[in-house]
Amino acid sequence: MPTVVTTIEALREQLAAARALGQRVGFVPTMGALHAGHASLVEAARRENDCVVASIFVNPTQFGPSEDFSRYPRTLEADLALCEAAGATLVWTPTVDVMYPPGDQTIVEVEQLARLLEGRHRPTHFRGVTTVVMKLLLAVIPDVAYFGQKDFQQQLLIRTMVRDLFLPVRIETCATVREVDGLALSSRNRYLSGVERESARSLSQALFFVRDRIAAGERQLEPLVNEVLARLWATPLVTPDYFTIVSANTLEPVTAPGPDMVALVAARVGSTRLIDNCLLVPPENSPTARS
Ligand code: PAJ
Repeated sequence: MPTVVTTIEALREQLAAARALGQRVGFVPTMGALHAGHASLVEAARRENDCVVASIFVNPTQFGPSEDFSRYPRTLEADLALCEAAGATLVWTPTVDVMYPPGDQTIVEVEQLARLLEGRHRPTHFRGVTTVVMKLLLAVIPDVAYFGQKDFQQQLLIRTMVRDLFLPVRIETCATVREVDGLALSSRNRYLSGVERESARSLSQALFFVRDRIAAGERQLEPLVNEVLARLWATPLVTPDYFTIVSANTLEPVTAPGPDMVALVAARVGSTRLIDNCLLVPPENSPTARS
């Protein structure tokens, strides 16, 4: 089993020992309820570092008042086994008091990017994410920290925060791990009933439909988006929040195909809110395109 620590002091002691051996430190922050998507991040960290730290902390400040903080799945024993199998050497499981000691009053906020897309539907979410990720990064100060493309806006905000605050940490974004039918793995998938699980396929299907149409040369983005939105609305149990094609760098809407585009979707399936995304490559930007 990996070493498990809770306090900042115990964490720093372990890290100091690793650093004294000249080890390179990789870090994977998580909220637990771990699955193969999380494992892929730990495995990437293992390939590139000697000491691999995973944190497990269900961060209360990133949940809205009517969201699922209290019922968010907590599966520590299974999580530790997964961390071990994937190659973590150290697992940090701070308590709320460790992360937010009494009197704590500092927040970290990325401005414009946090207001778009997910920020419109979850107004305090990203403030909670950037604040906790900043604290986690400063506690560990890894060489590299690993995040999933699954949460596209989150990784972009974290990259922006790290750049803006001169944090000496490299951010790696790892590909989304999916079920065989395309559904992106998520800790929240376990909330889905059998029929909801069936309907949940529609999100990745919509993304891949758009990806394939754009790769085939489609240049009319608005009718394409309207078509997939209509399909999502027509899927039983699915209530889309948005399906949009935006710049992968600014998250601003794009009207004509170009490089660095991403399609993003958020929808409720039953009462479970799911998000997913897919990078889009028009034929003229694909690596096989003739110049
Ligand atoms: P959590 O949802 O547990 O996700 C932890 C990391 O795993 C994130 O970087 C997320 O993008 C990545 N991840 C989730 N599903 C994935 C999948 N199917 N394939 C690849 N990577 C995946 O995201 C959070 O926790 C929190 O917001 C956190 C950053 C830990 C701050 O509290």
